[in-house]
Amino acid sequence: MNNWMIDKTHDEARQGEAFTSELLNKDQFNKHFYIESYGCAMNFADSEVVASILQQEKIGSTPDLNKADIILINTCSIREKAEEKIRKRLTEFRQLKKQNPGLIIGILGCMAERLKGDLLEEEKLVDIVVGPDAYRSLPQLIEEAETGQKAVNVLLSREETYADISPIRLNSNGINAFVSIMRGCNNMCSFCVVPFTRGRERSRSAVSIVAECEALLNEGYREVTLLGQNVDSYHWIDDTIGNTVSFAKLLEKVALVSPLLRVRFSTSHPKDITDEVLFTMKKYENICNYIHLPVQSGSTRMLEIMNRTYSREWYIDKFNRIKEIIPDCGISTDLIAGFCSETEDDHTASLSLMEYCKYDLAYMYYYSERPGTLAARKYEDDIPLETKKRRLQELVALHRIHSLESMQKDVGKTFKVLIEGTSKKNEDEFYGRNDQNKVVVFPKMNFNKGEYVMVKIHSCTAGTLLGKAID
Ligand code: SAM
Ligand code: SF4
Ligand code: F3S
Repeated sequence: MNNWMIDKTHDEARQGEAFTSELLNKDQFNKHFYIESYGCAMNFADSEVVASILQQEKIGSTPDLNKADIILINTCSIREKAEEKIRKRLTEFRQLKKQNPGLIIGILGCMAERLKGDLLEEEKLVDIVVGPDAYRSLPQLIEEAETGQKAVNVLLSREETYADISPIRLNSNGINAFVSIMRGCNNMCSFCVVPFTRGRERSRSAVSIVAECEALLNEGYREVTLLGQNVDSYHWIDDTIGNTVSFAKLLEKVALVSPLLRVRFSTSHPKDITDEVLFTMKKYENICNYIHLPVQSGSTRMLEIMNRTYSREWYIDKFNRIKEIIPDCGISTDLIAGFCSETEDDHTASLSLMEYCKYDLAYMYYYSERPGTLAARKYEDDIPLETKKRRLQELVALHRIHSLESMQKDVGKTFKVLIEGTSKKNEDEFYGRNDQNKVVVFPKMNFNKGEYVMVKIHSCTAGTLLGKAID
């Protein structure tokens, strides 16, 4: 499971496991689908687009697997384990299909795109395979599958952004929403399967993004996370003014929707984030001071063969620039242990980079070779599994120290917190997040979900700040 950009706090189900959809006004539907989503936030956002496409065809969502006519799994291919998990989940549906032979099972998302028609051969249970750019054809594919045929559409598009579709929010807390601003990726990091499963990068119209954010605000949402594999390369030619809207300009437009609407974004490729973005963040109080800035490795030699297009020194300069412009900016990262030919010195360079940056949050993985990627074709996956795992453990152990230090530094401070819901551990407490994306838990007093409240921090755990509201 990849969790690099999924908010840990407002919906833990989104963090590590599948989430299921809510029942939508069941009487108005002819059929029901059940959907599980895996992988990054973009997949979760896509499932909400799928729900909207199906609802228009009178196919409503149900959270109950046993009541579904159609089971959809929105899949991830980022690491081998992500795919294994989905294959295991499929075996659990065998019994259901035996009891109900008319049940349709569809595989959506990155694994569908990567394996295409082969999936139908490998997983006999599956009726539909549909890639991330082909969701508009799902109703048709379902019709085909209902006649007993297998149905596949894995065409990638250079234009599709689903800009005109209003996503139906699934499992939402009514406060935070994901908004896709672009699709695909042109970067070709050598380890990464995403450019193959999601296709070429394309940006969605700025007007449709702002309209979606306005609609969310009117429905009571108070935070949007703008999503893209590389948000800083967002660009859109605005025909009305003939100007190109850069990511910084888009951020500004969304920030201006309302001071009540918080704005987050992910992911920032270190090579693309600009001073203009940083100054826009500084200018608008409602753009959160938090950047996910994946480094992948602290060794320039590794970064070169990863095709990340920056060096260790260049990354450190970017890190310093962020802190110079926004001193209290929270920064998180992704790191890969045991990439092809990684030496102990390269690994030590990752540890020393972590010592330098002392990340507030880090997502760490050991390298998993993905068929078809540049690395799979060009480099040998030569680091033994136990070495990969040991190095990963060393990264994780060091990060634990840094994240605790980062939490402890906040004790005694006061933060503006957006209340996202009742704490899972204590129903007399709320949880929310501060600007820097840290989870804050505090007694409810007479506050309400969706409100902003100033909270003074009195203590912390490794992952949570504990405090008391002061107004
Ligand atoms: N677009 C983001 C960026 O450029 O950093 C990352 C997107 S990727 C979906 C999320 C993370 O998964 C990456 O940052 C990387 O750390 C990790 N990842 C990608 N491919 C991997 C692989 N083959 N093995 C292990 N981790 C991988
Ligand atoms: Fe993958 Fe690199 Fe694109 Fe991120 S920027 S999605 S790591 S290819
Ligand atoms: Fe996984 Fe696809 Fe996202 S491979 S991480 S679901 S873009």
